[in-house]
Amino acid sequence: MQITIEKVKDEELKPLYTDAAQLGFGKVFTDHMFTMVYRKGQGWVEPKITKYKPFEIDPAAVVLHYSQEIFEGLKAYAAEDGRILLFRPEKNAERMYHSAERICMAPLPVEYFLEGVKTLVNMEKRWIPKAPGTSLYIRPTLVGLGSALGVHPADEYLFYVILSPVSAYFKEGFKPISLYVEDVYIRAAVGGVGNAKTGGNYAASLLAGAKAQEKGFSQVLWLDAKERKYVEEVGAMNMFFVFGDTLVTPSLSGSILPGITRASVLELAEYLGYRAEERMISIDEVIAGAKDGTLTEAFGTGTAAVISPVGSLFYKGENYEINNFQVGPITQKLYDKLVGIQYGREEDPFGWVQEIGRF
Ligand code: PLP
Ligand code: COI
Repeated sequence: MQITIEKVKDEELKPLYTDAAQLGFGKVFTDHMFTMVYRKGQGWVEPKITKYKPFEIDPAAVVLHYSQEIFEGLKAYAAEDGRILLFRPEKNAERMYHSAERICMAPLPVEYFLEGVKTLVNMEKRWIPKAPGTSLYIRPTLVGLGSALGVHPADEYLFYVILSPVSAYFKEGFKPISLYVEDVYIRAAVGGVGNAKTGGNYAASLLAGAKAQEKGFSQVLWLDAKERKYVEEVGAMNMFFVFGDTLVTPSLSGSILPGITRASVLELAEYLGYRAEERMISIDEVIAGAKDGTLTEAFGTGTAAVISPVGSLFYKGENYEINNFQVGPITQKLYDKLVGIQYGREEDPFGWVQEIGRF
């Protein structure tokens, strides 16, 4: 792939952030972005790196009317020895391919995704923050363009990648969060698009999320669409429940996102000697465990959220604390190991991290 590079002039580069620990999530963007377009008859063409700037798109573009949009999220990490690392980027490229197929978009070949991401990140390496817990968040996005209002797949697509230096996703940092168990609204149903990373899933979750936040909760814990009985996932992460030395995470029912952090934690848990189960888990089982203390820990997993301890669940008018709202030892151990691998501090027996450049 021959990427055309239009570099922003040195004197027009944005000033860097001053305090990396205060970045928050997804508010600051770097100088450049990667773009590539798909046209019927031509395939994927015109890979480019240009200035980060607004797009001009047709008001009748399919994405603006029928939500033909998918995205990914991964991070670049600064290792202390000067390496720039990505964590399992091919998994994001593959998931984006499947998401595209699910909502009838032209899928982007995995190698274009990877080359676009790696080239852009290397060019923007001055933006990769080095403070503890910070990283460069990578947001690959694919949208349907074209110009026609009939409901049909677009005949033109835009793939782009933007970068944002970030600190913790939750304002709490690595501290327990409180979740609202939603038993009215649902996020996604089996047979729908809950297992594709498409923007509409997030739009569908906004109202319940806003209501939960008004009541002081960080996010919503979703239940299944049919019976409101089984635990699904959280707004931006998969869930794990710890019963003694056994971890339980909801199975990939078709309506939850197959998280890359989730898959990694399952492998890591077994490697560290815990039992790990993927199965349906009812909210009643979780609440009973919280009440009698057999549920010893709970946490969520995600690229943005990393591993986030869950300290309480609010369900049907009652609040249930888990582990006295403290970070549990298994959550801590998994967090230390995962983050250690991601930042290149710990040995990586799984071959998950890839060096893509150096400072
Ligand atoms: N579930 C949802 C709804 C998400 O948005 C995310 C974030 O990407 C996850 C789970 C976790 O997925 P991953 O670990 O691949 O980031
Ligand atoms: C991620 O963790 O990468 C996500 O996509 C979560 C969220 C910010 C939507």
